[in-house]
Formats: sequence, C-alpha cells, structure tokens
Amino acid sequence: MGFPKGFLWGGAVAAHQLEGGWQEGGKGVSVADVMTAGRHGVPREITDGVIPGKNYPNHEGIDFYHTYKEDLAMLGEMGFKCFRTSIAWTRIFPNGDELEPNEEGLKFYDDLFDEMHKNGMEPVVTLSHFEMPYHLVKEYGGWRNRKLVDFFVRFAVTCFKRYKDKVKFWMTFNEINNQREVNVPFMAFTNSGVLYQDDEDKYAVLYQVAHHQFVASAKAVIEGHIINPDFQIGCMLAMGPCYPETCNPADQLAAIKEMDKSYFFGDVQARGHYPSYILKLWENKGYNIDIEEGDLETLQQGTVDYFAFSYYMSSATSGDRSRFKELQGGFSTGIDNPYLKKSDWGWPIDPLGLRIMLNTLQERYELPMMIVENGIGLHEEPDENGQINDDARIAYFKAHIEEMKKAIDEDGVDLWGYCPWGPIDLVSAGTGEMEKRYGFIYVDKDNEGRGTLKRFRKKSFNWYKKVIATNGEDL
Ligand code: BG6
Repeated sequence: MGFPKGFLWGGAVAAHQLEGGWQEGGKGVSVADVMTAGRHGVPREITDGVIPGKNYPNHEGIDFYHTYKEDLAMLGEMGFKCFRTSIAWTRIFPNGDELEPNEEGLKFYDDLFDEMHKNGMEPVVTLSHFEMPYHLVKEYGGWRNRKLVDFFVRFAVTCFKRYKDKVKFWMTFNEINNQREVNVPFMAFTNSGVLYQDDEDKYAVLYQVAHHQFVASAKAVIEGHIINPDFQIGCMLAMGPCYPETCNPADQLAAIKEMDKSYFFGDVQARGHYPSYILKLWENKGYNIDIEEGDLETLQQGTVDYFAFSYYMSSATSGDRSRFKELQGGFSTGIDNPYLKKSDWGWPIDPLGLRIMLNTLQERYELPMMIVENGIGLHEEPDENGQINDDARIAYFKAHIEEMKKAIDEDGVDLWGYCPWGPIDLVSAGTGEMEKRYGFIYVDKDNEGRGTLKRFRKKSFNWYKKVIATNGEDL
C-alpha cells in the first residue's frame, strides 16, 4: 500500500525560468526573452523585440546556466529521483528554422543530463515549454504556420537522437491547453507564438494552431519510438476540476462544457482523434480547419504513452454567465468557490481537487499519469536568523500528497511520479516575478533583479527530504 516502489519523487522547472544566459552558448532569442516583468494583476508586456532599458527577468533567470552543478547537488541532497526541465529550443536551433543544430547548446544539455544522473535523478524533459524561438513568431506567425510542424519535429528528433541513452521520459508541449483562453494574450504567445489580431476569429485560429501542434506532437511520438522504443513520451496539460456551483442541471452542463475546453487537447493526444463535440462545434461555427491528407492517421498513430499534468487549483462555474465576475489566475473560469481559501495570487487551494482530477483522468484515458507540477507561490523573507519557515508550503504539499495517496490506495490510479513546481525559487511564468516563490531552496533575488543570487535551504527542504526518504509515508 502507499506509493509504489520506484515512485519518481522530484521537482520541475523550465529552461527559460531559471537558466538565464540568454545570449550565451549561441542561444537565440525566445518568446520568453521579450516579456517584461509584471506582477499580480499587472500582465507582463510582450514587446516587439528586446527593448533596451526594460526589465526582462528571464534574461538572467537565477543563472542556473552557470550554477546547475551546485543547484543539482542541493536537489540531490533532498533525494530527488527525477528532475523535470525543458530543453530551450533556442539553444539547439537559435532561430528555429536552421537545418543544423547548434553544437554548443546540445553539449550544455549533455552535461546537464549527466549531472542529473550523477546526482541520482532521472531526467524528465519537456521539448516546448513557453520558450519557442522568437524568429518563428516574426517570420512565420508562430504555430499558425504549418511549416512549424517540420521545424519542431526536426528539433524533437535532434534531441531524441542525441539524448537517447540519457533521457527516457519526454513531453512534447507544456500545458498545451492554456491557449484555450484566447482573451489572455500571454497564453497564445507562450504556447504558440501567436499574437491575435482584433479583426480575426480567435477560435478559428486556435483550432488551426492546435491542429499543427497535434500533428507535430504525434510525429514526434512516432519518430521517438523508432529512435528508442523504451522512450515514454507524454502530453502535458494544465488540469483542475471545474465544479458546478449548485446541483442545478444548467450549472452541471456549464461545468462539463468548461472541462471540454481542456479535454479537447488531451482527447486528441491521448485517444488519437478529434472528439465529436469539437467536430460539431467546427461544423456549427463554419470553421474549415486545414487538415492535410494523412494527418488523421498520424494523430491516431502518435498517441502518447502517459498523461502528464500540472495541478494548482480548481475552478467553479455557473449556468448563468452574467454571474461570472473575475479572471482566476488568468482564466475566465467563472465564479468564486466559497469553500476554498486562495493563495496571495488568487489561486484557490484545493487538495481534494487533485484526487478528483486523478480519478477523472484515469477513467477517461486509462493511461499512467505523472503530476509534473504542483505547488504554491508565497511571499517570503528570511527572518532575523536568516531562516525561511515556510509552514504554509509544507501544509500545502502534505495535503496534496495525502490525496495522491488515497487516489492510489483507494481509487486505483496509476501514478508514476510527482514533481512539485520550482523546487528552487525561479522567475514566475505568469507574472515574471521572482517574489512569487515556490522553492524548497531560497534564491536571493528580488523583482527588480537585485540580490546576491545566493541559495539557501528553507524549512520545507528537510521536510521534503524526509517525504522522499520514506516514500511518502512520513508527511
Ligand atoms: C505553469 C507553467 O503554468 O505554472 C510554469 O508550466 C509556471 O511554467 C507554473 O511557472 C506556475 O505559474 P506561475 O505563473 O506562478 O509561474
């Protein structure tokens, strides 16, 4: 009973949020490099190229490009069994459309993966995590353009071949379903390098963009399995249940429809075909999505091996749209849930929602799962002794791990691993802040980029170490 033997306890990051070194090793400019720092309630600005004098927090990140050896050693000290990161596409193909990769970039990840193994960690790697080459946005319009399929597959195959003996667990696109929220520019830009124009039907564009990504992902899965049949290649979605406000059937239907906006992505990547609710929507709206000959077969053949997802929060909705009042964490999910407390950034805290999500996904897809992000952003300052007593983080993780355990023991879900987000403080994707801290390890840097970049252990460091050492028994 409890967590299976070999359970992958670890943590997750993304290249652009911690590496820095944005112009080193031949790296090109990514979409993350043209986003300024925002804060809670103030969106990050997407600038037209890099504008001198503006604050671009991803340019330096936490300087992991230079400190990864020391950082991985600290994470290794916690007993991490795995470490999830992404390969910055712009280190391998700086502009995205080159025919030959950048050797210096490839070498960096060789060293990084070697170092992970040295510290006892299995690499878990995302190919595209909000950091596509900016050149592909400017020259091709991002994923609107079918050419992106070939560029991405070239990138994926290059990585698969190079790291076939070092990396077994892969994911194609991070939180591919974020872009369902077409009215938040950050989502389309980070997922797909798309900047919507005012006079276009954003949903028509979204479905075309998603189709290109589905085909690219499926082709990558097919190619990956040829390169190494032991590869496990997953999709990755941001998931959280959307609850109906009441037992009024209209609320229930609204919740189902809200979830379908996300399931759409999982359904294609895990089941290999477009679900009927989307085909009907296209028909009703008169959308003519350009699907080339062979694409549907590719989707069917390139289904994923496992279902990876991030879980931060749940949402709630009503059948009465006039009651929708706010954007929660950037998503217009509907209404407030009075049963749940929220983080300082307004994200509802819902451990039971994680168990609900695990159950629902298990039943829908019958695939092994991996929770590749979970955590809470907190404001933190060292006390007079230089300590960070992050009891709120410990309580958050304890409650979520307890629900994971019940999902395994009582509900029979097949869960491979758990990677809390940002085990070392890093730049927030949504706000660009440093001070939205997720880590077990504190990094001395503030929102303006000031600080020594020194690392030190928070109270949760030893707590998570104990959790891993006891395979989740001692919480
Ligand atoms: C997910 C992303 O959306 O959530 C991460 O995959 C991100 O890149 C994480 O950092 C937490 O969100 P935020 O906005 O608090 O950084």
